Amino acid sequence: MEIKRANLIATLGGEEAVARMDSEAKADALEDFLSSELDKILLSKDPFPTAAEVEQKIPSRHFRMGVGNLFVAQAPGAKVKILPPLPEKPTIYDFFERRFAPANHVLQSAALAMRNGMPEEIILACLLHDTAQALMKADHGYWAAQMYAPYVPEKTAFAIKYHQALRFFADPAYGYEYPDLYRRLFGEDYVPLPHIRADYEMLKKHPWYEAPRLVTVNDYYSFDPNAKVSIDPFREIIGRHFKQPREGLGNDNSPVAHMWRTIARPDMAL
Ligand SMILES: [Fe+2]
Ligand SMILES: [Fe+2]
Repeated sequence: MEIKRANLIATLGGEEAVARMDSEAKADALEDFLSSELDKILLSKDPFPTAAEVEQKIPSRHFRMGVGNLFVAQAPGAKVKILPPLPEKPTIYDFFERRFAPANHVLQSAALAMRNGMPEEIILACLLHDTAQALMKADHGYWAAQMYAPYVPEKTAFAIKYHQALRFFADPAYGYEYPDLYRRLFGEDYVPLPHIRADYEMLKKHPWYEAPRLVTVNDYYSFDPNAKVSIDPFREIIGRHFKQPREGLGNDNSPVAHMWRTIARPDMAL
């Protein structure tokens, strides 16, 4: 398999981060990189599969593709790692550092949104849009919007929720094309599910259409192999727009507290 060096280095946090790693850490990181099913798909040079071929692969795996990243070591034989504990009153920063890390994709998306001069609500949406994939990849936009709804502006939650539907539909006015990644993941003849199509029809007439559309625009072009990723540039925006609960995320008895607790302790047996 051909490995794109720039992709690998970006995944590890950039050239500087790689320079600080010892050789064992590099070997582990390479193994992790190669072991991800998604990366294998991304690196593939094969023709796009059909939706039926994508489905036929299901029984070849020991896990389901929609499972949250925290819950499975994807390579056959690989093991999950012990997770660092979270503080008693965990903040969004603790979750980023200890559960969503390396979070390169969302940090780069948010950085791009910031460079493009997006409103703060949209930058925050870009920062959070895929983080629920730690919990569940299937329907991740909907999971994420629910998980963040009590803590972020309504428009941010709206943008997070519907980026998932809009990613399936091109919009030349915003320079957004249907991504090849989706042809690979779902099959070239894939038809989005009814709830996605219905949401798209609703969104086309919605005054907030632009909010999730801007997430897809800053999402799709967000991969920059030279980007240095850090949450620091977003601290002021988080401070202004993220209502961190005093008790800590997961401890505030909100309707979504259990989602945060599950991410905090994914090793709980029941
Ligand atoms: Fe997404
Ligand atoms: Fe994304």
